[in-house]
Amino acid sequence: MTRAAITGLGTATGHRVVTNHDLAAVLDTSDEWIVERTGIHERRVGGSCLELGGQAAKIALKQAEIDATDLDLIICSTCTPDQVFPAVSNRIQNELGASCGAFDLNAACSGFTYGVTIAQAQIAAGMERVLVIGVDTLSRFTDWDDRTTAILFGDGAGAVVLGPSRRPDRGILSTYMGSEGRFADLLTCDFGDYIKMDGKEVFRQAVRVMVAASQRVLADAGLEAAEVAAVIPHQANMRIIESAMKRLGIPLEKAATVLETTGNTSSASIPLAMDAAVSKGAVSDGDAVLLVGFGAGMSVAAALLRWGQ
Ligand code: ACO
Repeated sequence: MTRAAITGLGTATGHRVVTNHDLAAVLDTSDEWIVERTGIHERRVGGSCLELGGQAAKIALKQAEIDATDLDLIICSTCTPDQVFPAVSNRIQNELGASCGAFDLNAACSGFTYGVTIAQAQIAAGMERVLVIGVDTLSRFTDWDDRTTAILFGDGAGAVVLGPSRRPDRGILSTYMGSEGRFADLLTCDFGDYIKMDGKEVFRQAVRVMVAASQRVLADAGLEAAEVAAVIPHQANMRIIESAMKRLGIPLEKAATVLETTGNTSSASIPLAMDAAVSKGAVSDGDAVLLVGFGAGMSVAAALLRWGQ
């Protein structure tokens, strides 16, 4: 089967920095509490999905050295679209000057990895250039007077171009998409309302599903946890990442993180963390890299890939 490999990566974040100190000035909270419970120091807010997603997509296309007109498909993961319809992906397609099919998917914070999984299937079926964007503007759905949620979220986007890997031993090795609808009420956002969540229970279930999904893609690819060079997890809470890494038996140093400065950016968090990992040289050609996301739904997705083309 043809494997999909990442050929370009781009990111964007909201332009306004909101620090924990900014929040502590208006809410009954403190920098110490937020850092200790979440690992987050600041988050970036502002911008629409079109602006942020378009910006990230342009960088990814440039890095992949392709024109938008060469794209076969655009998949945009978002749970905070600018409009009910049309899809964000249609607007981004127009912004880029692409002429291919485009659709949005909503699998909350697992959406980017869901998108990568669909891209892999399309490339195995013959497509050559698929753009997967993860973008969310959770600040628009955050009650900034609620200290239990306002500390967590930020706005951002990440995009990757995927194409058939040139070497058969590079690219996506295995993928998994899961959903546990019985936990749907743990994390919700109704029309015209703000994000509501049972933080403690989300935390508990998140660790469980992340570990199970990761073990599944490892088993499907015939790899041991010890062979993983880097884990790129959804950036919700540092303590969730710590617990999951411990249960997987993978040293925490192998986890890419960016939540310290971005907060939880939902669909954008995995490509943002991937960009940070690439920038600091934490992933190199031939490395086994594990992407794992979880989110409202409760959705979960994982993809194991061998870095490089
Ligand atoms: N500052 C100070 N105190 C606070 C704050 C705050 N910002 N928020 C809550 N508290 C208080 C609570 O009121 C409670 O006080 P009490 O003991 O007097 O009742 C105390 O701190 C402890 O609260 P808990 O909710 O038990 O704190 P916990 O350690 O569980 O941390 C948190 C809360 C950070 C929300 C954690 O549960 C968490 O991160 N859960 C996962 C949430 C998440 O990741 N959601 C999104 C995932 S999916 C997606 O990305 C869309």
